[in-house]
Amino acid sequence: MSKDSKTYKDFGKKVYIRTFGCQMNKLDSELSIGSLVREGYTFVEDEKAADIILLNTCSVRNKAEHKVYSQLGSLRNQKEKNPDLILGVLGCMAQNEGEKIFRRMPHVNLICGTREFSRLPTLLEEINGSNKQILAINEDEMVSFDRLVTQRPNRFKAFVSIMRGCDNYCSYCIVPYVRGREFSRPVGDIINEVKSLTDDGCKEITLLGQNVNSYGKGLNGNITLANLLKKLNSIEGIERIRFVTSHPRDMIKDILEAISELPKVCENLHMPAQSGSDRILEKMRRQYTSTHYRELVEMAKSLVPDITIASDFIVGFPGETEDDFEDTVSLMRDVRYQNCFIFKYSPRTGTAATELKDDVPEETKRRRNQILLDLQSDISAEDNKEMIGKSVEVLVEGTSKTDESKLTGRTRQNQIVVFSLPEGRSQEGWPSSLQGKLVNINIVDSTDLTLFGIIN
Ligand code: 5AD
Ligand code: SF4
Repeated sequence: MSKDSKTYKDFGKKVYIRTFGCQMNKLDSELSIGSLVREGYTFVEDEKAADIILLNTCSVRNKAEHKVYSQLGSLRNQKEKNPDLILGVLGCMAQNEGEKIFRRMPHVNLICGTREFSRLPTLLEEINGSNKQILAINEDEMVSFDRLVTQRPNRFKAFVSIMRGCDNYCSYCIVPYVRGREFSRPVGDIINEVKSLTDDGCKEITLLGQNVNSYGKGLNGNITLANLLKKLNSIEGIERIRFVTSHPRDMIKDILEAISELPKVCENLHMPAQSGSDRILEKMRRQYTSTHYRELVEMAKSLVPDITIASDFIVGFPGETEDDFEDTVSLMRDVRYQNCFIFKYSPRTGTAATELKDDVPEETKRRRNQILLDLQSDISAEDNKEMIGKSVEVLVEGTSKTDESKLTGRTRQNQIVVFSLPEGRSQEGWPSSLQGKLVNINIVDSTDLTLFGIIN
């Protein structure tokens, strides 16, 4: 390392990072922050105060890329005023758009793809003072991070990546192109990371991957998600284990049995259906039918009676008729999801679905989107009302954003709970003494999004 670069770090250059998109992106940002903090950088909440602005981007829908381009456009002024400002585009859109970003936004310094994150400190040093442009989108690199365990948004929770990439090639999805082939992380690495997180006070881990149900593929030995869960369940200090995202095609009884049998594995699945119509599922190349999906839901509910299920749906996929859409509505009505993410189909260049005509009018997409949002909101409101009078276990995360005298956390089923002390009762150290603890809460009120309660 040169003397100059040491001096550079000693200044504690200020970095601002904005994350778009999914949980994997949030984790990548967190890991990047860790690696830069270790190098002496500091992080700021205000982009105007930053020496380095990094946008960690998403490509899954066109709108996500638009947002980044418009933010880059509005940063042009700041760069003109401060030519030393380093502007970087990281992640999926960097991988997808590559050099095009330099052409449209010549004031950008760095384009860093999904598998180059670990080189960030080196890349930033190279740019510092030279104002040069670097394109780093190598496809062969493997993402590897020596995690700084103290670096995470909430002390009591952490994401742990167990696999990267995706081999499914659903016809609408850009992920396999920007994140690369599926790659499972060795069990030993995962266990070590979880142990050091628990040493740092972490109580809940969420295992992350595009398709966690196929975890173990390509690793030696009989390694599956179910037996990884068994191993993690025996780590002392961990109270709760979650995993996302489950692909219905790879959902097997073993995984549902692991949820049922292992005390730390939470009763919640994120298992995107995408559509309730077999015709559309086939065109999406999802490799299951709606009947199979319904059977999985039934099996999950019978093995784990208090399970909650979340899903993603795409409306307006090419050729989606009113009848196809009605099949989706009836799936949603029958499953009674705890939560759903609903997206309007957005054609992505290079994916197989772009060969199909994007023939559902925007207005129809918008209407179908709203119908599903309204239906889900009604279901959530009804199911949450059923919780009134019940007692639930909550992992306390911190104070409520809307009312600092109240605390908030989640149930094992992933419902958000806001709670307070019973009237007249005071508690030593409230509310900070309870953070990171498991408490029982009596539910007294609810909306579609939140349960409200009083501590037992
Ligand atoms: N258009 C709309 N939604 C999409 N998703 C993925 N690709 C597209 C696309 N081209 C949605 C899927 C996926 C979620 C992360 O994003 O529902 O599960
Ligand atoms: Fe995309 Fe399908 Fe892979 Fe999910 S499983 S990331 S939707 S290709």
